[in-house]
Amino acid sequence: MKNTLSEELLSSLTADTPSISPKFFYDDIGSRLFDVITLLNEYYPTRTEKWIMDAYQGDIAAAVGHCDVLVDLGAGNCAKASRLFETLNPRQYRALDISKEYLEVAVADLQKQFPQIEMSAHAVDLSLPMAFPDIQELDKVFFYPGSSIGNFDPEQADEFFVNLANECHGKGGLLIGVDLVKDVETLNLAYNDSLGVTAAFNLNTLLNVNRLIGSNFQPQDWEHYAFFNTSQSRIEMHLRALKDVQITLPGHKGHDHLISFGAGNLIHTENSYKYTQDHFVEKLRCAGFKDIHCWTDPNKHFLVCFAKT
Ligand SMILES: C[S@@+](CC[C@H](N)C(=O)[O-])C[C@H]1O[C@@H](n2cnc3c(N)ncnc32)[C@H](O)[C@@H]1O
Repeated sequence: MKNTLSEELLSSLTADTPSISPKFFYDDIGSRLFDVITLLNEYYPTRTEKWIMDAYQGDIAAAVGHCDVLVDLGAGNCAKASRLFETLNPRQYRALDISKEYLEVAVADLQKQFPQIEMSAHAVDLSLPMAFPDIQELDKVFFYPGSSIGNFDPEQADEFFVNLANECHGKGGLLIGVDLVKDVETLNLAYNDSLGVTAAFNLNTLLNVNRLIGSNFQPQDWEHYAFFNTSQSRIEMHLRALKDVQITLPGHKGHDHLISFGAGNLIHTENSYKYTQDHFVEKLRCAGFKDIHCWTDPNKHFLVCFAKT
């Protein structure tokens, strides 16, 4: 596992555009920092998605119909799924996330509150293909909130949707939240909050990488840099070197790798794609989803969709 991660990071950090995948944001500290981000004034997605889900609770329940299993993709603290329990009344709740310890604590807490629901926590990487053979015949809802889909490049998002559409097997569907294109100032503020929580979240990825593969990044040598790239319709987050630095990545049998970054050099840590409603619905259709319901807020800042195959 450690060797695979080392190879993945060595390859991404030495590419023409050095990068660290956003999945490395989420260790225990990263998950907690994300929870704080969701409370910030500037960060509209979480409260807007919650507003939509509350305002259209009845319509969502009617569109979904019967639900045996709620599969929460990138569950985090599981708070959003728990608000759906009353609406959808699932027998089983399956929570998936890369942040293992954080997820296990969240699911254990939730199980105490909802003893009647059979719950399980699964530490998985959602960027790899998924299969759910044991729930093929059940009515299932794949729940993917928080605009996490925006972290995938558009082509990867298409593959992800095709994978999920196949996994639906005509029984159940996908309930998904996605951030919409809007004015650039609102977007930039959401990723550059005045308390610097998003900056700490971004910098923490370096500490997580150190912990996972034994590298020696020093967060104080880097700064947070985020902006909306209009032509690509995405927020980009980067870490910018404040001075010349040399990083050691431990390799096989003591063969360490040295990587140099000059002052001002960037490591790309996240894309968060923003979609128009029409484009997003078209992507779901192309992946094989047919019956697509959409709900949005009065400002059209965020979109929630339920799609069946
Ligand atoms: C933007 S947060 C959303 C959390 C929660 N679902 C919400 O809407 O508030 C993204 C979540 O996905 C998880 N995550 C990110 N990349 C992942 C990956 N490659 N595989 C599995 N989980 C991942 C993170 O740990 C985090 O909990």
